[in-house]
Amino acid sequence: MNNFIFQNATKVYFGRGCVKEYLACLTKGANTILLAYGGGSIRRNGIYDEVTGILRSAGKTVVEFPGILANPTYAKVLEGAKLAREAQADMILAVGGGSVMDCCKAVSLAARCDGDIWEEFWARPGVIDFAPLPLGVIVTVAGTGSECNGGAVITNEEKKVKTGRDYPQLNPAFALLDPAYTYSVPKGQMISGSFDILSHIMETYFSEPDEDNVSDDIMEALMRSVIRNLRAAIRNPEDYTARSNLMWDATMAENRIIKMGKKCDFECHNMEHQLGAYTDCNHGCGLAVLHPAYYRHIYREGLQKFVRFAENVWGIARQGRSDEALAEAGIDALAAFIREVGLPTTLKELGVPREQLREIANSCGISQGSYKRMTHEEILAIFHECYDKEA
Ligand code: NZQ
Ligand code: ZN
Repeated sequence: MNNFIFQNATKVYFGRGCVKEYLACLTKGANTILLAYGGGSIRRNGIYDEVTGILRSAGKTVVEFPGILANPTYAKVLEGAKLAREAQADMILAVGGGSVMDCCKAVSLAARCDGDIWEEFWARPGVIDFAPLPLGVIVTVAGTGSECNGGAVITNEEKKVKTGRDYPQLNPAFALLDPAYTYSVPKGQMISGSFDILSHIMETYFSEPDEDNVSDDIMEALMRSVIRNLRAAIRNPEDYTARSNLMWDATMAENRIIKMGKKCDFECHNMEHQLGAYTDCNHGCGLAVLHPAYYRHIYREGLQKFVRFAENVWGIARQGRSDEALAEAGIDALAAFIREVGLPTTLKELGVPREQLREIANSCGISQGSYKRMTHEEILAIFHECYDKEA
């Protein structure tokens, strides 16, 4: 295994009823709370009433910061920072998915920083030598795993760049995870969020080192869990066991544990983020289109790992196949799963304009951890291969 340092500063409270049980206690030290949320789902499913009821009974002043939409923008971050400062908030409470959590991490930094945080912390890695505004999160949809890391993916609309940085200082102080809160997530979002989980695991699994290591073993178990539990949650959206597993799979995929000792790839994420910057497409849907096409480009450079993936994740028996044929069968199984759960398979379905493919390809970051280092030409070839037919 490669050398590593592990730390995760977020305290997790998991399970049915955890908000009711712990929120008042967790917000004890704060007087004014910036309550951040998305486009309104929490008002419809009762989470807003539960959370505000608890905060008001505890005598908190609640200042609302609503309307954080998918693929949060830098403009929204600045709006939240201004509000936090004017209200003299002493805590941010983010209630939602990755978009709300990511936006709030950036707000927690911007509220305590006079500079241009895009230039200082997102355009390039920065140094946080001050304390950001404390942040707590209540997760309402499983997917990004943002609840347990310092990562915040922000879109700068002016510059047409969507990019993420992971600063340990931005880890939420606490995360409340009630799987029953995810029952109301629309089916399409539940599926794309679950694919995002699978993608985070695959992007880590398909990277060096490939020698025997516990991170790869954990990841195989996690991938099987996502596949099994997504199928169960599609059959019955109120299957608490399935929702619990998906929620914890999401956290496990991005709480840094599986990344220990691994290089990590994340080239598909680099590509998807730029598709998102140009089209505002759904993150998990973009990933679903790209993964099979990308893997058909790189599997020969990581052949033994793709063989392991076919056997240990999809349960495919060798039956006289060559390594190449077995690796391809694993990628075919992934593509079949994408079709089975109803995810999109072409960029056209995501609304990506064909005439912008080159510009988008040229704007993608190049991963240093891939089995095969991409070029912008090869990324463009991948985009063309999955543009209007499944790759
Ligand atoms: O906005 P509302 O009305 O709340 O509706 C949301 C939104 O439309 C809805 N939703 C959430 N919980 C719900 C619900 N609807 C009904 N009932 C509930 N309980 O779901 C929709 C999607 O929410 P969003 O937060 O956008 O989804 P997700 O969690 O997939 O986050 C996506 C963002 O996170 C970034 C993505 O790039 C994207 O910007 N990522 C963040 C990462 C991180 N910080 O570690 C890693 C990821 O790779 C990813 O890049
Ligand atoms: Zn992701």
